[in-house]
Amino acid sequence: MRRAAITGWGDYTPPAVLTNEDLASVIDTTDEWIRSRSGIKERRISHVSNAEMATAAARQALAAADLAAEEMDLIIVATCSPDRAVPSVAAYVQRQLGGLGATMDLNAACSGFVYAMSVANGMIAAGTVERALIIGAERLSSFLDLQDRSTAVLFGDGAGAVVVEATEGPHGLLSSNLHSDGSLTEILTIRGAGTEGVFEAEVPLTVDMEGREVFRNAVTRMSEGAVVAIDNAGLQVEDIDVLISHQANIRIIDATARRLNVDPDTVYTNIHAYGNTSAASIPIALSEALDRGVVSPGDVLAMVAFGGGLTWGALVLRWGDRVERLRTVDHDLPGTEKTGLEVLASRVQGLGI
Ligand code: COA
Repeated sequence: MRRAAITGWGDYTPPAVLTNEDLASVIDTTDEWIRSRSGIKERRISHVSNAEMATAAARQALAAADLAAEEMDLIIVATCSPDRAVPSVAAYVQRQLGGLGATMDLNAACSGFVYAMSVANGMIAAGTVERALIIGAERLSSFLDLQDRSTAVLFGDGAGAVVVEATEGPHGLLSSNLHSDGSLTEILTIRGAGTEGVFEAEVPLTVDMEGREVFRNAVTRMSEGAVVAIDNAGLQVEDIDVLISHQANIRIIDATARRLNVDPDTVYTNIHAYGNTSAASIPIALSEALDRGVVSPGDVLAMVAFGGGLTWGALVLRWGDRVERLRTVDHDLPGTEKTGLEVLASRVQGLGI
């Protein structure tokens, strides 16, 4: 059976760090509250655009696969924070890197990367695509409302990317399972950033979230989705070597792992360092896990995600033989000496710093 196998990976996490202490200096919160409720210690704030982050991660992924952008039949950027409505972030990535393959953005909120992998796999299975670049890239700090402490402390910026290639071998994407419950649109929504915000001045930019409802649904739905995906792959929970969950809250990740009854040692997390980077969180975690030697040849990986919609999804894949990059490239973006708070302050009026 023809399917997608990951042959390259990369990430870009902006250099400007925003710590919990930094946040506590401008809003009514504490490091202790944020760490104990979410597991987050710090997050990154981007001084460059979403497309620049996406391109930087993509460059690394292409080098790791030793392929050129011109060889990509498809670029999908999973994002809910595009720089512009038109054209897509993916088109800007192609503008930077080259090629004439199809480009599109996919918005399934924080489930976007899992959705995009499944879409690319379907196109590869159908024979219309040989190679694709799948990127998760988010600049959610643009939406942060520092007046709302319940959401402002959770999110961060970053990008992760993979190159997938068609394979007939035993490795690659074994199964995927995607769902959405449209009756839950209002428990997690960003208002004022779409066309309603253009025409209705009274729609301010806000992240509206019913935290406990999102939490409850996330644990139930991600574990249900993972069980189905594992079963459809013809595997058992015990076969999972590495579980990479969307990094939204360490308590959600732990509760999902407990519900699934997976060995806690198989769960890879990095939420403490980046917060919730939405569709970027899984590919950043995957890239980091590979570079840290967490993934071995032939390992079975499960990826689970949930996000606004409410969307959720799970992937199960078997890794191939290679866990090292074929080539590496340094990021060529301009750096910044600013802290995360200073980058935010340069965009946000009235921060008082
Ligand atoms: N600092 C200090 N106190 C805060 C705070 C902050 N940043 N944010 C909220 N609080 C307060 C609340 O006002 C509330 O106070 P009250 O009891 O006096 O009303 C109290 O902390 C408890 O809030 P609660 O919402 O019950 O906390 P919680 O244990 O549910 O944790 C979340 C809140 C948001 C961390 C948690 O619900 C969560 O992670 N939900 C899922 C969110 C998510 O994953 N979103 C992304 C989806 S992709």
